[in-house]
Amino acid sequence: MQRNFLFLLGSGRRDGNSEQLARKAAQYLPAEVPQQWLHLLDLPLPPFEDLRHTVGVYPQPVGNEKTLFDATLAATDVVFVSPLYWYSVSASMKLYLDYWSAWFRVPGADFRKRMAGKTAWAVTSYSDEGDDQLIVPLVSMLRMSADYMEMHWGGTLAGYGNRPGDVLADAAGMDQAKGFFGM
Ligand SMILES: Cc1cc2nc3c(=O)[nH]c(=O)nc-3n(C[C@H](O)[C@H](O)[C@H](O)COP(=O)(O)O)c2cc1C
Repeated sequence: MQRNFLFLLGSGRRDGNSEQLARKAAQYLPAEVPQQWLHLLDLPLPPFEDLRHTVGVYPQPVGNEKTLFDATLAATDVVFVSPLYWYSVSASMKLYLDYWSAWFRVPGADFRKRMAGKTAWAVTSYSDEGDDQLIVPLVSMLRMSADYMEMHWGGTLAGYGNRPGDVLADAAGMDQAKGFFGM
């Protein structure tokens, strides 16, 4: 199967540590594997509305939501690139995931069925040096969400960093980035 990777960037800034770590890992993907990079700062979404038990369905996505919806469905591999914010993913990443619940209920989208069998990955950076257990909640929520979606779990790439670029000096993170996607 021809793989294609969607990198979703959830940091509150551009070119931060999580993005730099993901870009490092992506360098090792074979050239023929397409990569799409979307920064959630460029694609803001309105607050999520839970219409499950009122309207019951959601309208066809438009605008930024449609860009994210189409890209998500087109990818075989979804890479959640998020800094550790309060031990979890950033709010923009969480909001993007909340929209998956809406996309289940877009008539004709078949979102759940079409997501099953894809692979989810996590790339994160965090500033609390010396305790890699701190990323457990972030990894758990993404991994459980992938399980719920019947997606495969690719794995977690984590690097230490606080100021932008710090992660490039994290030898363990840089080393792990090399073989991360295993292709
Ligand atoms: C809102 C916010 C919450 C954060 N929460 C944590 C945290 O819980 N644990 C931690 O180690 N670092 C935390 N940090 C630090 C970031 O994870 C760290 O600076 C990271 O390198 C930022 O990644 P980025 O450069 O990709 O944005 C937080 C930063 C912000 C702005």
